[in-house]
Amino acid sequence: MAIEVGMNGRLFHLHTKDSTYQMYADEHGVLLHTYYGKRIDGENLADLIFQADVGFSGNPPEAGGNRGYSLDCLPQELPSDGVGDYRESCIGLVHEDGSMAADFRFEGYRILPSSYKVKGMPALYDTEKETGSTLVITMREKASGAVVRLLYGVFEEENVITRALTVENQGEGDLWLTKCLSCCLDFQFGEYDMITFAGRHAMERSPERTRIRRTKLEVSSRRGTSSHQYNPAAILCAPEATEDFGDCYGMCLVYSSNFCVSAQKDQRGQTRAVMGILPEHFSFCLRKGEAFEAPQVILSYSDHGFSGLSHQYHRILREHMCRGKYQFAKRPVLLNNWEATYFNFDKEKLTALAKQAAELGIEMLVLDDGWFGKRDDDNSGLGDWFVNEKKLGGTLRELGEEIHSLGMKFGLWFEPEMISEDSDLYREHPDWALTIPGREPNRGRNQLVLDMSREDVREYLLERLTDILKNAPIDYVKWDMNRSLSDIYSHVYTGNRNGEVAHRFILGVYDLLERFLERFPDILLEGCSGGGGRFDAAMLYYSPQIWCSDNTDAVNRLSIQYGTSFFYPVSSMGAHVSAVPNHQTGRATPFETRGHVALSGSFGYELDINKMTEEEKHLVREQIADFHKYYTLTHEGTYYRLTGLKERFCAWEFVDEKQDHALLTLVMTSAEGNPLPVHTRVKGLAPDKAYRCSENGHVHSGRTWMNGGLTLSKVPGEYESVLIEWEAI
Ligand code: GLA
Repeated sequence: MAIEVGMNGRLFHLHTKDSTYQMYADEHGVLLHTYYGKRIDGENLADLIFQADVGFSGNPPEAGGNRGYSLDCLPQELPSDGVGDYRESCIGLVHEDGSMAADFRFEGYRILPSSYKVKGMPALYDTEKETGSTLVITMREKASGAVVRLLYGVFEEENVITRALTVENQGEGDLWLTKCLSCCLDFQFGEYDMITFAGRHAMERSPERTRIRRTKLEVSSRRGTSSHQYNPAAILCAPEATEDFGDCYGMCLVYSSNFCVSAQKDQRGQTRAVMGILPEHFSFCLRKGEAFEAPQVILSYSDHGFSGLSHQYHRILREHMCRGKYQFAKRPVLLNNWEATYFNFDKEKLTALAKQAAELGIEMLVLDDGWFGKRDDDNSGLGDWFVNEKKLGGTLRELGEEIHSLGMKFGLWFEPEMISEDSDLYREHPDWALTIPGREPNRGRNQLVLDMSREDVREYLLERLTDILKNAPIDYVKWDMNRSLSDIYSHVYTGNRNGEVAHRFILGVYDLLERFLERFPDILLEGCSGGGGRFDAAMLYYSPQIWCSDNTDAVNRLSIQYGTSFFYPVSSMGAHVSAVPNHQTGRATPFETRGHVALSGSFGYELDINKMTEEEKHLVREQIADFHKYYTLTHEGTYYRLTGLKERFCAWEFVDEKQDHALLTLVMTSAEGNPLPVHTRVKGLAPDKAYRCSENGHVHSGRTWMNGGLTLSKVPGEYESVLIEWEAI
């Protein structure tokens, strides 16, 4: 049973196939966290908690004379603020009288036979293959009307436990929520490292591993997006954990706006990790009867190192987060005109690209930025979602039909959440932009951000998107978002309600996306924010693929896609072959390598294919044949990282579900004279099956290949790459 309740409804076990999470409501109603790790049986582990009189760690009144009982030392599920736990808390409240205490005690529980939803936000959902179950624990604040419902979801087969919470004001007066983190993981014992994924525009998600000590480790975003700089996902692991071995805990937030994740040891060496909405610039007013819902955190445990953890996240996100027709349907090979033309295109250029693309086997043309309003550079036009028929030499329908007549699909770029000051929309509705009265706003890419918390703004955008999509045959939309939020002030949520705006903004984005997809369920949506500035679990609910980075350099992509793969499935990473010298780095890499790297993602091209040589065109045909041949492996197979990033080469592998077929990609990242051999082991084969390797034709058992590995017959040159297959015979 996934949820087991004992000790008169006070001991809770959340069991997955291989893990257990345990909590216990003690005699004072404090919900203690007693265990998370490898699966255990039903015994109460509260006796592992060591209690002692710790100086300057006070005692709640219920403890009476027991000075050993302190909230400052106990491992808890809902650590709260202002009542004697001096560590990081999950909840901050301001009551009517201005007091700031939050002290929640256990009231009761319920079990639901399905997963829970989070209002207005994405969350893991049930499928026919696996239905989750939910434990709801009610915690009541001791002296006010605040009630918290802790939501725990269990996906047994997937080894996933989720947590979210709601805060309800059941009191008479207003209640201010100043902090509402979704999840707390307390570990009484052990040493841990924390791995976060940091970067910058065009260099996203590089893993950074740091020992958790008493100095607080925290990454966060205050940009109104999940951000290029830090990602809302982190791993806590044993110091000895590696790719294949050791205890790992994943924390992945289903949220696309300001977040934080932190970990710190307390005075006694206990580790606390928390995750949720960033408290800075956040406050939410709850009137009588109102509730606030905090986003879901997806937790997963594996004792098989990072690869075990990644496999669990890949599966759960692909099967219980991504949705719609293209969740499993084959994605088309696309050609995006951005790096081919930038803003400088007309009908002739586009149709010439489409004709050549069709001839090469490319399946979709995506028309990127510049087709609407007055938009010949990035200084104007955002918000004016009206087709520039002059530039397109006709209607969008005509262009779309021409592309369809070539047997190709047609895709279009939008950036709905933005507004240029040089636009008719801004001239008509200056108050629709996020700006603070009396201050000149900060610009990013010379544009402002629309106030997505406003219903009228969303109505306008939905009407514009609908009008464009109804009047042209469009199969795909790239939904972009090209700046960080600043000057956050809504002309609707004014005064002291402005602390709600960043959160309401993202709820507004989700609402618009949801309504858009309701109207156009068959559209393939690709998320984007200057590449991977909003690559998070929540966006995968709407777009099964996200443009991984604006950096298309095949060598830089190795680290970007590597870092992204710790949580997010390969099928979700938009990856394109582009021209050399690369537009972002100036580097020249072989055409084959660019293809091999992009094949490990949602594959496409982004270059002027009419400028390609005959040899390159031939390679495109070969790459597209490879795309079809390996699609099931790359999009549905199990993905293994075979190297880190510090070696002379970078290698990774896919294995199909039946373990009959494996594909290894290896890219040489640095070359040396008189080169040493390149040797790699493979993973994930069935030990007792016999496999033939395409590199040398040799047949060995899976066991032998996995342990003995393969030495390449020739050492590739710098930036050269190879694809090698293993087929069961
Ligand atoms: C962002 C995207 C690019 C492209 C441009 C268009 O930078 O990431 O792929 O769409 O915007 O302006």
